[in-house]
Amino acid sequence: MIDLRSDTVTRPTPDMLAAMMSADIGDDVFGDDPSCNRLEAHAAELAGMEAGLFVPSGTMGNQIAIRCWTQPGDEVLMEAGSHPFNYEAAGAAVISGVQIKTLTGENGQLAPQTIWEAVRVDDVHFAPATLVSIENTANRGGGTIYDQDALDAIGAGCTERGLRAHMDGARVFNAVVGSGVALSRVVQEFDSITFCLSKGLGAPVGSVLCGPADMIHRGRRFRKFLGGGMRQAGFLAAAGIYALEHHVERLADDHARCRTLWSGLTELGYAVREPETNMVYVTVPEAHAAVAFLAERGVQTHAVAADCIRLVTHLDVDDDGIEQTLAGFAAVRA
Ligand SMILES: Cc1ncc(COP(=O)(O)O)c(C=O)c1O
Repeated sequence: MIDLRSDTVTRPTPDMLAAMMSADIGDDVFGDDPSCNRLEAHAAELAGMEAGLFVPSGTMGNQIAIRCWTQPGDEVLMEAGSHPFNYEAAGAAVISGVQIKTLTGENGQLAPQTIWEAVRVDDVHFAPATLVSIENTANRGGGTIYDQDALDAIGAGCTERGLRAHMDGARVFNAVVGSGVALSRVVQEFDSITFCLSKGLGAPVGSVLCGPADMIHRGRRFRKFLGGGMRQAGFLAAAGIYALEHHVERLADDHARCRTLWSGLTELGYAVREPETNMVYVTVPEAHAAVAFLAERGVQTHAVAADCIRLVTHLDVDDDGIEQTLAGFAAVRA
């Protein structure tokens, strides 16, 4: 089966498994798991931030960031297609007591001016905006990469206005490889970032939240109350360390295969926007029927709407898999 539903489906490679098996472990809730500590320090260094916190999922990383940067009754600004608004089970309302104000962007990305226009004046009627969260790459935007100028303007503009800026960087290493800009530079003007180890980087579990030391210190307590304090988590952290050391540059292969998919699908007559990273959204009438048809031919895909299928390339999809996928889509149209 070729599984293009998401880059979350990857299995650890034999070398990653070997790194996990030989991990130095302790009890991370007591703070003495050397692999977790190493991963957190390494992640913080890559992000150019003071500290890191290993969390079970990207969702938990985002939710802890929202909890750290807001008070109940605050407003958090984000793009309408963003993950915390659409796919985190209203966690921001439940955990942080905040309301999310969604803004309309282009390809999942917010223009700085759109954000500033949404920040309301200080008035007892209004929920004060205290946090802006942006997604890079923007998943529902098509895996798009923010321009560095826009990121700098958003981060610096938030600081000027007394707001915090968080980056949901679930796939930020796809942005790093796609743009050639180092992670520390990408988030230079941001207060915090969550990035996932369990997507294109190929680890089975885990994300890291990075930010200032005092924020991460408070975040560690929130992780505990959410049930995210893990014990011999070093086995999982070792997979993350391995992923950061061996699976970042190879994301370029996923991007190249994604372009092959895009050009092949375009030749077949499908409407597909040119990809920037590892995902394409294909317009297909009767998407659910097409997903079932493709699955019968050994290709798993994901219908995100009645007329749209998402395909994501990753570590476990090779060139033959791309060919098989294109043959499947050719048969859909036949
Ligand atoms: C943009 C984005 N943010 C956050 C997440 C959440 O990650 P997790 O599934 O690890 O909770 C995802 C997951 O797909 C995502 O695509």
